[in-house]
Parts: sequence; C-alpha cells; structure tokens
Amino acid sequence: MSKIIFYEGKGKRKEIEVHPGQTLLEVAREYEIDIEGTCEGNLACATCHLIIDKDWFVKLPEATEDERDMLDLVSGLTVNSRLGCQITVTADLDGLIVFLPPAHYDRNNSQ
Ligand code: FES
Repeated sequence: MSKIIFYEGKGKRKEIEVHPGQTLLEVAREYEIDIEGTCEGNLACATCHLIIDKDWFVKLPEATEDERDMLDLVSGLTVNSRLGCQITVTADLDGLIVFLPPAHYDRNNSQ
C-alpha cells in the first residue's frame, strides 16, 4: 500500500492508503476528492490538473509531450503541475503529497 496525501484547500487534508497501479485520478474518484477528469484519462481535457509537492515532483516520471501540451491549457499552471490521470501510484510514491489547484477550491468555496 502507498499513502497519498491530498490537500483540498482551506486546511482540508485527506490521507489515503491505496494499492499501487491506480492513477491519481482514479484514487481521487474512489475517495470523493473533487477532481473532474472529464475525458476519463484520455489526455483531452486537463480537468484533472493537480499540483505536486516540490520534493515529490522531481521523483515522478517526466510528463510526456502530450501531457505537457495539455498542461499548457490549464489556468493556474505551476512548475509543479501535472495531470492526475497520467500519474500512476507506485510503491516508490508512498507518502506523495498532492494539492488541488487554488482555482479549484476557490470555485468550490464561492458556491
Ligand atoms: Fe482528461 Fe486527465 S482526465 S486529461
């Protein structure tokens, strides 16, 4: 099992134990973390935008050119931005820290 820590904004933190092999988008869906993922992981929407803790970002496999192209479309892009559907949890990622983008939780808190 690998522990993934999601920060959903405004102090909301969710710590989840998952089996390696799932993508971060799949994990988020299973544990009711509010990530859209409109295209179901087909690299066609960028609504699964996540920001990875900087110490963990460097440990991830590099984004493909297709992922980088999609990332160019997100608002609030950061140097540590990735698409959740493109990151598969592995045993090496035990303890991974992930943030939902500020635009995401600002939108949800204004409702
Ligand atoms: Fe559409 Fe990730 S779910 S790009």
